[in-house]
Amino acid sequence: MSEADRKATWNTAITRVEPNRVSVRGYDIAELMGRVSFGAAVYLILTGDLASAPIARLMDAILVASIDHGATPPSALTARTVASTGATLSAAVAAGIMSINRHHGGAIEDCARQLKAIADRATSKSISLDEAASSALAAMRESGERMPGFGHRYHTKDPRTARLFELAREAGVDGVHMKAARAVEKAFADAKKALPINVDGAIGAILADLGMNPAAFNGIFMIARTPGLVAHVIEEQTREKPMRRIDPVNHGYDGPSPRGMPGTSAS
Ligand SMILES: CC(C)(COP(=O)(O)OP(=O)(O)OC[C@H]1O[C@@H](n2cnc3c(N)ncnc32)[C@H](O)[C@@H]1OP(=O)(O)O)[C@@H](O)C(=O)NCCC(=O)NCCS
Repeated sequence: MSEADRKATWNTAITRVEPNRVSVRGYDIAELMGRVSFGAAVYLILTGDLASAPIARLMDAILVASIDHGATPPSALTARTVASTGATLSAAVAAGIMSINRHHGGAIEDCARQLKAIADRATSKSISLDEAASSALAAMRESGERMPGFGHRYHTKDPRTARLFELAREAGVDGVHMKAARAVEKAFADAKKALPINVDGAIGAILADLGMNPAAFNGIFMIARTPGLVAHVIEEQTREKPMRRIDPVNHGYDGPSPRGMPGTSAS
């Protein structure tokens, strides 16, 4: 710590800015640029550590998985509604972000916390994860609560979750949260209620197994969804009439037809 830092009225440990040099968590930003992906930079700024290549890939996949989910999620509808009033880009995107809360995106953090509680219960009561998951679900059912991170209004087999778990396995990530998530899926299936883990639940389990702070999970969703919201606001303001009545469900799609990525079997 320099003399100037010692004399400062407060300190931040995130980024040091000096003439001609910017260091994020101690790493020169110019050296990071072109060497680390955006996912790795997000991991660095939130945890203080540089991710290994497979974990950087996993972080990138988490951000890509959440970039957009069409025009019906509350954040897209809110951003479009505000955009249709003639609001600025920042106001419309901020409005969309403000709708990311406990019931939209929040299942990431809530699921991680519930999975931790299940794992802790299994340890403290010396029972299996399967038993801890069944009793947690029974208690939730009794109190009318739902298990966050499970079930989906639209997808029965969410294409994003399987890929995220595949990348997590490739990165050697499979800790208590992911194991507890599998126990919850089994407990739902045993109770004749096949409710698969959804993308929020998968992200929550993976981020928690990466040791990240659950307080940041909703923020990671906001970081990921912002490009999608910017796209929705610009499309709303360039294609649609101001102050239109936005049907929340009945809309079509007229973008590109499905196309293969170069280098994949579909290309
Ligand atoms: C996402 C969600 C709203 C989709 O719900 P849906 O497909 O419209 O299903 P419904 O609300 O009609 O519920 C259907 C049945 O499944 C049950 N169910 C659905 N999700 C459940 C969950 N996560 N935990 C326990 N039970 C659940 C409901 O209680 C209902 O049971 P019933 O038929 O005995 O009354 C719902 O699964 C949910 O609340 N999940 C938890 C929150 C969450 O993960 N949100 C993030 C979504 S990406």
